Amino acid sequence: MSDTTDAPSTPPPGCPAHANAVHLAGLEYQRTPSQLYRTMRREHGAVAPVLLDGGIPAWLVLGYPEVGYVTTHDELFARDSRRWNQWPNIPADWPLMPYVGHQPSVLFTEGAEHQRRQGVITQALEGVDQFELARECQEIAHQLISAFSGGGRAELMSMYAHALPARGVLWMCGMPAGGEDTEHLVDDLRISLDAGEGDDPVAAYGRVGARIMQLVKEKREDPGSDVTSRMLLDPAGLSDEEIVQDLISVIAAAQQPTANWIGNTLRLLLTDERFAVNVSGGRVSVGDALNEVLWLDTPTQNFIGRWAVRDTQLGGRLIREGDCVVLGLAAANTDPQIWPESYIGAENSAHLSFSNGEHRCPYPAPLLADVMARTAVETLQEQLPDLVLDVEPEELSWRPSIWMRGLNGLPVRFTPTMR
Ligand code: HEM
Repeated sequence: MSDTTDAPSTPPPGCPAHANAVHLAGLEYQRTPSQLYRTMRREHGAVAPVLLDGGIPAWLVLGYPEVGYVTTHDELFARDSRRWNQWPNIPADWPLMPYVGHQPSVLFTEGAEHQRRQGVITQALEGVDQFELARECQEIAHQLISAFSGGGRAELMSMYAHALPARGVLWMCGMPAGGEDTEHLVDDLRISLDAGEGDDPVAAYGRVGARIMQLVKEKREDPGSDVTSRMLLDPAGLSDEEIVQDLISVIAAAQQPTANWIGNTLRLLLTDERFAVNVSGGRVSVGDALNEVLWLDTPTQNFIGRWAVRDTQLGGRLIREGDCVVLGLAAANTDPQIWPESYIGAENSAHLSFSNGEHRCPYPAPLLADVMARTAVETLQEQLPDLVLDVEPEELSWRPSIWMRGLNGLPVRFTPTMR
């Protein structure tokens, strides 16, 4: 615990609350976050002073009712990051810039402008036929599995869990699955959202923008039955630039959490004794496993964030105008106020994994994510019924991120199949 509760060497000036702030970094976040958040809550209450990268102060909201309050009171906690009172202290190359740097997309808009942009996305997503999406994801799953099934071994995060929702969401947006430039785009998306060693995320992001702009132009000329065309034809009349920004937001918001939802669910199925020794032998359904992950191992562990519109109170803390508030979604889901110490999780979906309020993951995105994740897991079970973990469960490691909870890799083995 010491790496998370040490006082920073230099408390932020003028902020007594942050004198004993928790560094929001460290190994504990990757291992057992639910325990860690309970400890933080015991020590700091429902709203903890934290330090982000570079010692930048913020508040982490750990309580279920408090996250609910923040997300449903936009007049107090708003989404435009330009409100932040810490900008003078933040270097241009700050690692969290991709999450908080203002972009002219739906993500950072507020009020009527947000309703206009989000309304267009919602109606465009509502047009996706869930049965067709399931069929398409099944087809994508078969293609991905057949690429590795002859070898008897695979690393499922890169070969399956990340690849499937990337292809699925691009298909929804009107890009043909399996096309060569779709494959390049899938690769550039991976690099821009989750860069590895030697990758150039900025260049990749530029190529994503250029390809999405081309897609928008193609669909202006020749609309089809897809999310992009529906956004273009919406009476709200968004400009091409606005649509490009919002499509990138939709694609990025869909790919990463859905990929980690699939990965975390496969890990649960492969390691928890209630699910027996292999993915298809379990006594608990895939639906139960998917839901349990949303309660206990949610992909978007912490979400940054909201910015205080004026001085206000939250969980007994004085929050100053322009302060940054991080939504502790994982902590809220495991809040001891809603769960007794010994038990966490429920069959219902009252978790906060899709957040809440105006900026929550827009309906019907959670349903579409569920179709993709469920199809991914079930198709793998059907195709490779004796799939087992190829390392000890303790050897699986989590990505070094306090925002997304996902595995570095998921090595498995199975009886090779004929291609
Ligand atoms: C088809 C898949 C998905 C799509 C198209 C999608 C789309 C979006 C979009 C457009 C937003 C921005 C909403 C706004 O600012 O008004 C958003 C926010 C969000 N999404 Fe999703 N999403 C998907 C899957 C997921 C999954 C699987 C999770 C987690 C389990 C998730 C969790 C969230 C969260 C936590 C937010 C932030 C809400 C906030 O600011 O309060 N999404 N999503």
